Amino acid sequence: MVRALVLGATGHIGSHVVRALLAEGHKVRAAYRSERFLFLLDGLAVERVRVDLDTLEGMRDALDGCEWVFHAAGYYPRFRERREPAIERGVRSTRRLLEQLRRASPARVVFTSSAATIRRVPGRPATEADAEPWPLTAWRPTYASVKIAMEHEVLGACRDGLPAVVVNPSLCVGEYDARPFSGRAVLAFARPRVPVYVRHTFNAVYTGDVGIGHVRAAERGRFGERYLLAGRNVTLQEFAALVARTAGVRPPRWRVPYGLVWAAAVATEAAARVTRTEPLLPRGAVHSLRAGQLLDGTKALREFSLPQTPLEEAVRRALAWFRQHGFL
Ligand SMILES: NC(=O)c1ccc[n+]([C@@H]2O[C@H](COP(=O)([O-])OP(=O)(O)OC[C@H]3O[C@@H](n4cnc5c(N)ncnc54)[C@H](OP(=O)(O)O)[C@@H]3O)[C@@H](O)[C@H]2O)c1
Repeated sequence: MVRALVLGATGHIGSHVVRALLAEGHKVRAAYRSERFLFLLDGLAVERVRVDLDTLEGMRDALDGCEWVFHAAGYYPRFRERREPAIERGVRSTRRLLEQLRRASPARVVFTSSAATIRRVPGRPATEADAEPWPLTAWRPTYASVKIAMEHEVLGACRDGLPAVVVNPSLCVGEYDARPFSGRAVLAFARPRVPVYVRHTFNAVYTGDVGIGHVRAAERGRFGERYLLAGRNVTLQEFAALVARTAGVRPPRWRVPYGLVWAAAVATEAAARVTRTEPLLPRGAVHSLRAGQLLDGTKALREFSLPQTPLEEAVRRALAWFRQHGFL
């Protein structure tokens, strides 16, 4: 039994990490920022501490006496944030946290990155070995660019001796998604309002499995290594049909051709030049969407015995939770 600090314990992933740790009999110090989301920890035997990673308020006390640290509160650039400042902010916040970790020297750190940092490989599912170069040599969306830069900082610190393991979840589907980000994909197709889809492939995983993957990463992960926490490769059409069927609504019927999506991208780029913001749909995003991303999560299956809950069950749980909490 160890004492573990979970940063972002009221987040979608963090809530599952907390539950996975408790299920293994560990003691949990759950760090939250906003009290609004504390209800996600209701009924759990955890120590609650307030930590603000922007000001580092509460951080020193939170780290005190913890052998394991899970960082599931990484900076999340919001849609339309400009890329360069967002990368700088991500790097700055990661360096600040790494400095604190060096001082506190916990035995193990698990850093939640993203499958968005894995390079897209045409023709086969990508693995952890498919690293993006840094600095980037090809266009990547703001979210991916920020996550790649942050991961680069952590892996650099590992080479300098930080005992950290990086985990890279794919799109997480499950309960406790109170500020739906990945959950938007579920909500969109659970409402009978989205009649269209595009040809796209991606990987989706049950968030409960991701929580367990974090704990196994602390127990068995090799320092300085990345582990994809992946589930099933699906097409957007399959995913939309699964969500719609489970929600009892009509699945989207019309596939939008990429020519039309490309035209929309050109239009949003022109609008963004006028408003001096990031385009709603840059042409690079259309390229990425078209290429899709298939993942091969064999490494975590082999080394962590990562559970593979069926996507049907993940969608069922997510929808039940969204319904219970008034999102649907
Ligand atoms: N969800 C996915 O599908 C997915 C997939 C791959 C990777 N990821 C990565 O996993 C991480 C967690 O994602 P998530 O979906 O669980 O996010 P989330 O639901 O938005 O939760 C984020 C958590 O971090 C906390 N937090 C954020 N900024 C903070 C700060 N400056 N100081 C203190 N706490 C802060 C939030 O606290 P508040 O309560 O105050 O908001 C919240 O508890 C992110 O880095 C994301 O990029 C997510």
